[in-house]
Amino acid sequence: MSSFRDMPWTESDSEHFIEVGAIHTPSRSEIGDVILDLIPAEADEPFQVVELGVGSGWLSEAILNRFQRARVIALDGSPAMLKESGRRLDRFPGRVELRQFRLEDADWISGLPSELRCVVSCLAVHHLDGPAKHRLYHDVYQRLGIPGAVIIADLVAPRSKRERRILAKQWNDEVRRQSEAFTGSLEVYQAFVDDHSNWYEHPDPADMPSTIQEHIEWLEAAGFSTPNVFWMRAGHAIYGGFKEDSSR
Ligand SMILES: C[S@@+](CC[C@H](N)C(=O)[O-])C[C@H]1O[C@@H](n2cnc3c(N)ncnc32)[C@H](O)[C@@H]1O
Repeated sequence: MSSFRDMPWTESDSEHFIEVGAIHTPSRSEIGDVILDLIPAEADEPFQVVELGVGSGWLSEAILNRFQRARVIALDGSPAMLKESGRRLDRFPGRVELRQFRLEDADWISGLPSELRCVVSCLAVHHLDGPAKHRLYHDVYQRLGIPGAVIIADLVAPRSKRERRILAKQWNDEVRRQSEAFTGSLEVYQAFVDDHSNWYEHPDPADMPSTIQEHIEWLEAAGFSTPNVFWMRAGHAIYGGFKEDSSR
């Protein structure tokens, strides 16, 4: 497996996020529940899902638990993340395929099966710039069957300075609450503050969140019907769109 060269996201980012991801992500289990509810499938149907930026594998694990006949292709650029998700998803033999990819490259999508039911992602798509996100939604639409869906949880960009300030505070408050609730201490929260991890307060050029309005516009232009935002907390939104039989 090749290393994770030439990318702003490093292997030490992966190691760190495996440790603190559940605390840094506002209400991660709620995000998982909403994504699962949006997948257009019955619990006992066989179908194919792709997860972009699988990380430690928590979302794929939730999908495989809820949908007992679903199969997941789980993609990530980081060897450390693929190792971690491989460990976590080991108990679903024959239902998971891990692949290394580079989100920015054009070739990985043509290697996916056609007629996918769903493409999901949590906190990975903001590593692409606007035109690349637009292109991604177009390419994903071509790969989906009917019914199909793209469902993404990600950091979204504010439209004003006031909104940026509010989202910054909300995210700090969430990390503080979860740090205390999950670990009994404020240590993870303090490190979040000290490391300047709150993108709204300390924008990092490697992270390129877009506004909700841009996502909806790009999804619509790609062909998705009724694209919308389904959940939002502390700057983290779940948005997506559906590919449906237009006669229904
Ligand atoms: C913030 S983590 C989120 C991980 C997981 N989805 C979660 O919610 O816990 C971002 C993930 O995207 C992957 N990633 C970041 N940039 C990438 C790129 N350019 N190509 C492929 N994967 C990338 C990282 O390795 C990491 O697993």
